[in-house]
Amino acid sequence: MSHFTGKVAVVTGAGSGIGRALSVELAKRGARLAICDVDTVGLAETEALVRSQGAEVKADHLDVSQRELVLAYADDVAAHFGTVNLVFNNAGIAFTGKVEQMSFKDMDRVMDVDFWGVVSGTKAFLPHLIESGDGHIINISSIFGLFSVPTQSAYNAAKFAVRGFTESLRMEMIADKRPVKVLCVHPGGIKTNIARKAEQVEGLDHDDLAKQFDKLARTSPAKAANVILKAVEKNKARVLIGADAWVLDKFVRTSGPGYARAVGAFSKRNGL
Ligand SMILES: NC(=O)c1ccc[n+]([C@@H]2O[C@H](COP(=O)([O-])OP(=O)(O)OC[C@H]3O[C@@H](n4cnc5c(N)ncnc54)[C@H](O)[C@@H]3O)[C@@H](O)[C@H]2O)c1
Repeated sequence: MSHFTGKVAVVTGAGSGIGRALSVELAKRGARLAICDVDTVGLAETEALVRSQGAEVKADHLDVSQRELVLAYADDVAAHFGTVNLVFNNAGIAFTGKVEQMSFKDMDRVMDVDFWGVVSGTKAFLPHLIESGDGHIINISSIFGLFSVPTQSAYNAAKFAVRGFTESLRMEMIADKRPVKVLCVHPGGIKTNIARKAEQVEGLDHDDLAKQFDKLARTSPAKAANVILKAVEKNKARVLIGADAWVLDKFVRTSGPGYARAVGAFSKRNGL
């Protein structure tokens, strides 16, 4: 018996990367899974991987930026399984560009998926998690939810917002004695397709950006999933993933706002 045996777990953005690894690791630990994504091909691959572990799985197309659909999805999942215990609000996108060059549309898209997608997933499932008597919300922020870098203003804003939202929710659940635990996750560079799928402003080279990301991302999605699930078991409030995340978090906290000078210089040197 593991901590997750028999529990119903929802994973958004399960068609790739961290979401896929979480789904597989949860399946290995005996969870029953509701997985969703906008990428139906990737989702079907994850579904097959999860089934090969012998896990019960419900796979659905879902765009987390469509609030009404997220609300309906939560009710559908709860009706299908009879309960919901864990929700991993993981779906996310990246976008590279300076504030001066980014359009409002570019910024809205990042906020709609990376922030409002998390808020909708949380609000939609919260009544079901409370009703379960044993709920857990896991919101995926980023190391970029702890400090900012140039060319990632919208992503930074969304990930800082996820952190603020999630930490506030955790306090409310504790104060109101709700049976829902809350974890905020801050991964460093994880080797996934996020940069390959990302968009950027005109004038930046997509392949160059993806190659730079590949150089910096050191942690495997499987390792990230294992760290997250351990933090869930321990009811941690916050978890950092990867040595890069630990080092950068410490550096930013000890140097205060002065970190911006060093990060700005590093970004410039690397053409970011
Ligand atoms: N890879 C990293 O280095 C890293 C670092 C910090 C945080 N994160 C965060 O981890 C999460 C997972 O990212 P990943 O690295 O596994 O990326 P990924 O691109 O491999 O996976 C993200 C998944 O989310 C799905 N998705 C995108 N928009 C969606 C939408 N509107 N509705 C539903 N699904 C949608 C994609 O189709 C994809 O399958 C994201 O929130 C990301 O911001 C990643």
